[in-house]
Amino acid sequence: MIDLMALYKLNRFQWHLTDTGGWRFEVDSYPALTKEASHRTHKIWREWRRGGSKYLPSDDSNGYGGYYTKEAVREVIKYAAERNITIIPEIEFPGHSDEVLAAYPELSCEGKPYTSGTFCAGNKETYEFMEKILNEVMELFPSQIKNIGGDETGTSSWRKCPKCQALMEDEKMTDVHELHGYIIRKAENIIQAKGRRLAGWDEILHDKLNKESVVLSWSGEAQGIEAARKGYDVVMTPLHYLYIDYFQSSPNTQPFGHDGYATLGKVYSFKPVSNTLNNTGKQHIIGVQGSLWTEWIFDVKHLEYMAFPRTLALSEIAWSPEESRSWDGLRKRVELHLRKLNSMGVNTYTLSCEVEPVMNVDTIKKQLEVSLKCEKLNMEIRYTTDGSVPTISSPLYKNPIVVTDSLRINAASFKNGSVCSSVFTQNYYYHKGIGKNIKVNEKSIGNRILTDGYIGGYTYLDGSWFNFYGDRELTLDLGKEDRINKVMTRWMQLRAGANRSLPESVELLLSDDGINYTSCGIVERQNIPNTPVLQFQNYDFEGSWTARYIRLRIKSGGSMSADEIIVL
Ligand code: ACM
Repeated sequence: MIDLMALYKLNRFQWHLTDTGGWRFEVDSYPALTKEASHRTHKIWREWRRGGSKYLPSDDSNGYGGYYTKEAVREVIKYAAERNITIIPEIEFPGHSDEVLAAYPELSCEGKPYTSGTFCAGNKETYEFMEKILNEVMELFPSQIKNIGGDETGTSSWRKCPKCQALMEDEKMTDVHELHGYIIRKAENIIQAKGRRLAGWDEILHDKLNKESVVLSWSGEAQGIEAARKGYDVVMTPLHYLYIDYFQSSPNTQPFGHDGYATLGKVYSFKPVSNTLNNTGKQHIIGVQGSLWTEWIFDVKHLEYMAFPRTLALSEIAWSPEESRSWDGLRKRVELHLRKLNSMGVNTYTLSCEVEPVMNVDTIKKQLEVSLKCEKLNMEIRYTTDGSVPTISSPLYKNPIVVTDSLRINAASFKNGSVCSSVFTQNYYYHKGIGKNIKVNEKSIGNRILTDGYIGGYTYLDGSWFNFYGDRELTLDLGKEDRINKVMTRWMQLRAGANRSLPESVELLLSDDGINYTSCGIVERQNIPNTPVLQFQNYDFEGSWTARYIRLRIKSGGSMSADEIIVL
């Protein structure tokens, strides 16, 4: 990977060495970290989580895991340095630390193993641990920047812990989150005492963060822009663009993975230096990072597959001026480089021939525009709107297809007279509910995700899905009484990363006055198999009604996602 990074001009390797999955490098001051928390009961992350997330001693032959000795770490640092790559170690504080607290339970609020993944903030020993570990890390790694994590810190143990509460009182803190800032400042002091700089994920952006510290913008782009505006140096790695552990094509065609969706095109579309920043702010964007987490990665071949070719897009957005970037140009270069990489024995993703839609909902013209795209360059897309399977003599797709009422689009890609893809098929509706108000359990949700006309894509994180957990009532107000012949909802079942489940049932209720509702039917869940990993299921109602208010009473199936309430 270091050789490949050098080939594509990536000059920093952020090495995520500690997390819940296991402690991955040797330290002298706390030997139980590698002895007790570098191995676990199951190899596969999901199975391990399901099986109780327990660690095993490193000499237990049933364990899965491993760690780098100091000698091995030095060797990797030297090898990388010879290729102009600086290794930035990441050591997680104060969250994501279940493995540390299994080995040293006295550092948790409860003082017992397997009770929390967050260090006790009120315990002096936490700061001794931090100091000793960070000093060993700084001795081992010559990099100027040390990442101390800081992300996704659970605070429930702090709320109940007398030591944390006492610290809050001593420091006159009113909010438990201030303990997080306190811990980060302690880490800054340790790191800056050695003339180095702290980096952390964007949650570290507290009021008192030292101006020398570096922010990794992961949970979005806005966090990095805010940090740059405030004068902090920022590395951009927003998850919807640059998490290259996400699927890069339809999940059903891909190895098991994390649940998001970040195609080559999505990576390439990211603009690291936002135009909303002034020149000083722009100077603070010091780099971009592709984050490739390995919870869902089974082996090195799988890792390579996730990294390539998306790393090529990452490299271009890092180094090429925006004006010189070209999507067609990138795809041409990628095809050449895939051959080169394959001949070097690197396992790569192949650009997809599948047809993918891009929608635009125009509420002024009251129409949908559906563009059809193919990731692979120079493919012909042919489509039908009469329900038939597209053939080589079907119309060639050139311009967005306009939908003013309803339309079924079937499409496939072709090359040299032969079909190359499976048949893409989707019904589109410019329906009565578009733009109408929605309430969830009587409260307005402040967005129209369920009535925006957009059909959701391969990930429930794409902004087109309404995601929720538990029973709900969704009420749509048409604004006036209208004829209703059909109410349709589409749901996602996903068995990758975070699961999405189908509702147990959906009941349709209609009302004229918003007070008295009449039930118009219930659709029960039709259980569908767990493979393929991603499936969609409709819960539809047909009848002949007149009403103003449409209520869907959802019985929970767990964590659920619906993209649109279609009213015809
Ligand atoms: C992160 O993905 N929690 C940084």
